[in-house]
Amino acid sequence: MSFLHFKGKHLDIPIIQGGMGIGVSLGNLAGHVMKEGGMGVISAAQPGYRDPDFKRDPFTANIKALKAEIKKAREIAQGKGLLGVNIMVAAQQYDRYATEIGLLDIDVIISGAGLPLELPNLIKNEDIALAPIVSSGKAAYLLCRRWFQRYLRYPDFIIIEGPLAGGHLGFSWDELKAHSEQTLESIFEDCKKALEDLGQNIPLVVAGGIYTGTDIAAFLKKGAAAVQMATRFIATFECDAHENFKQMFLSAKKEDIDFVISPSGYPGRAIVNEFVTLMRTQRIPPIQCVNCLRPCKPATTPYCITEALINAVSGDVDHGLVFTGTNGYRIEKIVSVHALIDELMNEIKAVMI
Ligand SMILES: Cc1cc2nc3c(=O)[nH]c(=O)nc-3n(C[C@H](O)[C@H](O)[C@H](O)COP(=O)(O)O)c2cc1C
Repeated sequence: MSFLHFKGKHLDIPIIQGGMGIGVSLGNLAGHVMKEGGMGVISAAQPGYRDPDFKRDPFTANIKALKAEIKKAREIAQGKGLLGVNIMVAAQQYDRYATEIGLLDIDVIISGAGLPLELPNLIKNEDIALAPIVSSGKAAYLLCRRWFQRYLRYPDFIIIEGPLAGGHLGFSWDELKAHSEQTLESIFEDCKKALEDLGQNIPLVVAGGIYTGTDIAAFLKKGAAAVQMATRFIATFECDAHENFKQMFLSAKKEDIDFVISPSGYPGRAIVNEFVTLMRTQRIPPIQCVNCLRPCKPATTPYCITEALINAVSGDVDHGLVFTGTNGYRIEKIVSVHALIDELMNEIKAVMI
């Protein structure tokens, strides 16, 4: 079986490991997912955070780290699977990052947290596939029309992220608070309709709250080309985050997972810990701004998201922000990427046969 065909490439399993910043999905996690025939995705959100020059020159440190992480992933994968880099549209210097990343040895650029309307203009290497993340049929329609009108091309595949995802969410507070009728299923159907209206058959990948092989099989049956999963990959030995970060998931209960405000302007979903409780009652001023997100106003921001995410991924979880998908509390143990993918594929086979 093969899945998600684009540019003469494909996946052996219908799974993309979602990009997780800061530092949660780097070369080790991505490489091990690739080795199983899936797509590994390295997050371009401050991957150079451990570089001694990071604070002085984040751009150079981040590109240097990305090159090293890509090399590591390729070495681990031994020619298997596909490799993506995830870039957030809300990132400062998005154009500069995208242009530079478009020169690296990767198969796909995935881009969300805003609509990547100008992405085709920035990537000159035609072998690199482009995959926007959208959260509505309307956004899928608008983006496809714009890319075709301006650049005579369509996305190679589209990732649809629903309201149960982790990290930043592409929904307004009102949409989330009202427990709107929108589900990943309904947005998937809206996107299918949008592509029908455009007369385009672009592969669709769904993300947000997919937890078991049965969940994956249900979307494959509806016509999805693959799924993107992130939260489950945190609880793997190979995940690039500190052990303390992973342990947060083993102890989290359903009621510990909630929405948080983010300087990105988008709502996020995280585990409510000491940091979140404090940040909800008082402002935590940045120590040293590295100019990470365009919408952030350092003088008034409720907290520094880069500092909070770096604290968390480095193991200082009490002073850090631990992003999670809605299913984070369901994680019971840490396993290898191989064991996780084996379990998911067995569940898929049991339903699909
Ligand atoms: C810890 C964490 C960090 C994330 N960071 C990013 C990111 O930097 N960029 C992005 O586009 N999505 C990010 N996401 C979203 C994931 O890539 C993915 O689409 C989503 O979480 C899928 O839902 P699931 O976690 O329920 O599987 C993040 C998710 C988590 C849990």
